[in-house]
Amino acid sequence: MIEVEERESKGLVGHSKYTRNNPFLSTVRVNELQTAAGSEKETRHIELTLDEGMIYTPGDSAGILPENRAEAVAEILALLGFRGDDRVLDHYKAEISLEEALRTRLGIGKLTRGSLKQYAKLVPAGSTLEGGLKGLVGPEHKAEAEEYCWGREFVDLVTAFPGVVTEPQQLFNVLPRLVPRLYSIASSQRLHPDNVQLTVRVIRYESHGRQRQGVASGQLGERALVGTKLPIFLHDNANFRLPEDTSAPVIMVGPGTGVAPFRAFLEERQATGQTGDNWLFFGEQREKLDYLYREQFQAMHKDGLLTRLDTAFSRDQPEKIYVQDRMREHSAELFEWLERGAYFYVCGDAIRMAKDVEVTLLDAIAVGSHGTLDDAAEYLAAMKKQKRYQRDIY
Ligand SMILES: Cc1cc2nc3c(=O)[nH]c(=O)nc-3n(C[C@H](O)[C@H](O)[C@H](O)COP(=O)(O)OP(=O)(O)OC[C@H]3O[C@@H](n4cnc5c(N)ncnc54)[C@H](O)[C@@H]3O)c2cc1C
Ligand SMILES: NC(=O)c1ccc[n+]([C@@H]2O[C@H](COP(=O)([O-])OP(=O)(O)OC[C@H]3O[C@@H](n4cnc5c(N)ncnc54)[C@H](OP(=O)(O)O)[C@@H]3O)[C@@H](O)[C@H]2O)c1
Repeated sequence: MIEVEERESKGLVGHSKYTRNNPFLSTVRVNELQTAAGSEKETRHIELTLDEGMIYTPGDSAGILPENRAEAVAEILALLGFRGDDRVLDHYKAEISLEEALRTRLGIGKLTRGSLKQYAKLVPAGSTLEGGLKGLVGPEHKAEAEEYCWGREFVDLVTAFPGVVTEPQQLFNVLPRLVPRLYSIASSQRLHPDNVQLTVRVIRYESHGRQRQGVASGQLGERALVGTKLPIFLHDNANFRLPEDTSAPVIMVGPGTGVAPFRAFLEERQATGQTGDNWLFFGEQREKLDYLYREQFQAMHKDGLLTRLDTAFSRDQPEKIYVQDRMREHSAELFEWLERGAYFYVCGDAIRMAKDVEVTLLDAIAVGSHGTLDDAAEYLAAMKKQKRYQRDIY
C-alpha cells in the first residue's frame, strides 16, 4: 500500500475501480463492541481492509452490501413452499438460485407500500384474501398501509396472507432490491493506509411479537466476525470536508454514531499537523456505558489537539442534557469562534437533533451579535455560502 501523499501526487485520490455495482470483497479485521454491558445501545467499531487504490478523505462514507440472515431466508422459503435451489433470474437477468436471490438481491426486511401493492395484484379475484388486502392498497389507503408496514417485514405479510406467490420469479416484482447501507468513515487514511473504520449502531427491536434486527447493522453485530468477507465501496462526500485553510477553527457536533466523521477529522488534523483549533461536542445516554472513543478523545484533549471537549450524557441525571445544552452554556465562546472564522459541522440524527442544534446555533449568533433571529439566519446563510456550515445527517 503506497502512502496517501504519493497517491495524491499521482492523482489517484477519489478514484477506484470499485463501485456499488463492482464492490471490493473486504475482510473484517476488527469488530469491537464500544458500548459497555448494561447499555441500551450496541455500538461497534469496525475495521475493514481496502485494496490498492481505494482512497478516502475524511467526510466520505463507506457502503456495505449486506446479506439477509440465513434463518430469515429459510423461513420465507418454508412459508412460500419453495426450494432454495429453485432457479430465478436476477435484476440483470443472470440465473441464480432462489436462496441466493433472497439472501443477496431482495429486501425481505422492512415492508414497503410498493410490496403491498404488488402482492395484492397477485391475489386471484374472489379469493378470501382479497378483502383484507384491499384496505391496504391505493392512494385512499396510504395511512392504513403505512401503519401496517411499520415494524413489519415480508415474513409478516406472507404469514397473514398465505398462498399468494405461486412462482419464485414473482418475488422480483413484489420485493424491493436489497440496497447498500452507507456508514460515515471514522478514520483518517493517513494513519490507517490499508483500512477503513466505521462506528455502527446495531439496530434491534421487538415488534408484532417478533425479535427484529437491521439487515446491515445486524450482520455487522452478529455475523461479520473478524476474518469475514464483506462487499464494500467508498462513497465520496465533497459537501462534508475539513476547511482548506488548515489554521481555521472547527466546531463539531456529533452525538451517538454522529461522532464518527469527527474522529476522522481529528485524526487527519493530527496526522498532518494542522494548527486550527478543534472543539467537539459529543453526546450519548450514559458516560460509563456509551462514551464512544473516550480514551482517544480524552488523549487528544490532553495533548491540546482538541482545544475543547464538551460532553452531554442525557441519562446520567433526572433531566435530559443534550449537546445543544452544552452549546448554550458556552454560547458566547461559540460565537467568538464563529467570528474567528470557525467552520461548524453537525452529524447524526436528522429528525430531531440536527434541527434543535440549528435553533441553538441561531440563538447563539443572535445573542452574540446583539441582533435578531432574522439577522442570525442571514449570518448562517452567509456561513453556508462560505461552506462554513456543513451537515451530514441521516
Ligand atoms: C450518509 C449516511 C451515513 C451514515 N452513517 C452511519 C454511521 O456512521 N453509523 C450508523 O450506525 N449508521 C449510519 N447510517 C445509517 C445506516 O446507513 C443504516 O441506515 C443503518 O445502519 C440501518 O441499516 P440496517 O440495514 O441495519 O437496518 P434496516 O434493515 O435498514 O432497518 C432499519 C429500519 O428498521 C426500522 N426500525 C428501526 N427501529 C425500529 C423500531 N424500534 N420499531 C419499528 N421499526 C424500526 C426503521 O424503519 C428503520 O428505517 C448512515 C446513513 C447515511 C445515509
Ligand atoms: N436509518 C437508520 O435506521 C438508523 C440506524 C442507526 C442510527 N440511526 C440514526 O442515527 C442517529 C444516531 O443514532 P445513535 O443511536 O448513535 O444516537 P442518538 O439516537 O442520536 O443518541 C445520541 C444521544 O443524542 C441524544 N438525543 C436525543 N434526542 C436529541 C435531540 N433532539 N438533540 C440532541 N441530542 C438528542 C440521545 O439522548 P436520549 O436517547 O437520552 O434521548 C443520546 O444521548 C439517530 O438518528 C438514529 O436514529 C438511524
